[in-house]
Amino acid sequence: MNKMNKMNKEQKIVICGAGGFIGSALVNTFREKGFTQLVAVDKKPMTRWYQRFPDVENLVLDLEAPDACNRALQGADVCYNLAADMGGMGFIELNKALCMLSVLINTNLLQSCRKFGVGRFFYASSACVYAGYKQLETENPGLKESDAYPADPEDGYGWEKLFSERMCRHFDEDFGVDTRVARFHNVYGPDGTFDGGREKAPAAICRKVIEAKLSGCHEIEIWGDGEQTRSFMYIDDCIEGIGRFMDGDVADAMNLGSDEMVTINQLVDMVEEIAGLKLKRNYKLDAPKGVRGRSSDNTMIKEKLGWAPSITLKEGLEKTYAWIYDQMTAHGSSKDAVVNIS
Ligand code: NAD
Ligand code: GDD
Repeated sequence: MNKMNKMNKEQKIVICGAGGFIGSALVNTFREKGFTQLVAVDKKPMTRWYQRFPDVENLVLDLEAPDACNRALQGADVCYNLAADMGGMGFIELNKALCMLSVLINTNLLQSCRKFGVGRFFYASSACVYAGYKQLETENPGLKESDAYPADPEDGYGWEKLFSERMCRHFDEDFGVDTRVARFHNVYGPDGTFDGGREKAPAAICRKVIEAKLSGCHEIEIWGDGEQTRSFMYIDDCIEGIGRFMDGDVADAMNLGSDEMVTINQLVDMVEEIAGLKLKRNYKLDAPKGVRGRSSDNTMIKEKLGWAPSITLKEGLEKTYAWIYDQMTAHGSSKDAVVNIS
């Protein structure tokens, strides 16, 4: 398991957004593989980092500011940008300006990479770059990389991602900053957000099913009619994929997502089965819904990297459900982050 084999363990690796879900999992993977010069950077106070590790250098910096990017990247060999103001549909549909402001993070990080000669830069883009007109039907055949153009991305968040992808491309072509860009499709797993407004469907549905189980009120609210489709990538596949992107030589933006497409109703079926109960479904049709149908076409990643995410939704949901259940019963439900200091 896990690539990153080609990297030198003494290299200085800076992980931005390291207090968040994916960033903290990435820091932990590097630690476990014996990397010794890790710098974890996030804007949030450290008490709110999802996972925090005393054996790495932890910095609280707002990376929208150029000085903060310079401070983080001075002497760095590699940079991973996982910092963004983001969340599920409930957040991105109502906070478009905040999402757009993340353009400052990526732009200033690239400037610092150029200034300090950082060897390689990873950017976490999103399936939200794909054109809305390709996602009007539930029966989505899988989005190919070329489906991002002619551009019609998700308003706000998707435009920021598409612009930042291009910024990476042009810094690579014009200034020699070696960039890798992954278009993540909906990522879930333990140590992720499950309440507070930024949670995505897998964690939200797990939380709601657990609430129903614990309260004895066997009903669930589902946003939309439940027939919209998505694919969901388990965190371990995401981390593995990031390693393979960085080891590989593909500078073009490429999908990193599961191609196991389900309806939201099927997602609820699976979580109900794990919980061992059936709920009355109440559909909230005016809730944020996003696109009608989305999945990942993995032809390119298989061709270029010889690999694609493969952890099944059932397997990933079992682990995610168990972790959220533990959080909700042992510590109570958090409003924002779960701090897990090791
Ligand atoms: P997350 O919200 O858990 O983590 C992002 C982190 O970035 C947060 O801890 C936040 O405090 C930090 N941050 C925000 N603004 C910052 C700033 N100005 N300076 C420093 N830190 C800042 O999100 P995540 O799920 O870990 O996502 C990581 C990256 O992957 C993001 O770029 C996101 O857009 C992208 N992505 C995630 C998904 C997904 O399903 N999780 C899907 C597509 C793309
Ligand atoms: N969040 C959430 N909560 N979504 C729900 C719920 C609920 O309780 N019930 C049903 N849904 C539906 C949403 O209406 C949407 O149609 C679908 O589940 C998926 O919602 P999200 O998981 O919130 O987001 P998304 O898949 O539309 O977009 C996410 O993935 C992108 C990458 O694929 C977002 O996290 C984006 O930020 C991300 O880039």
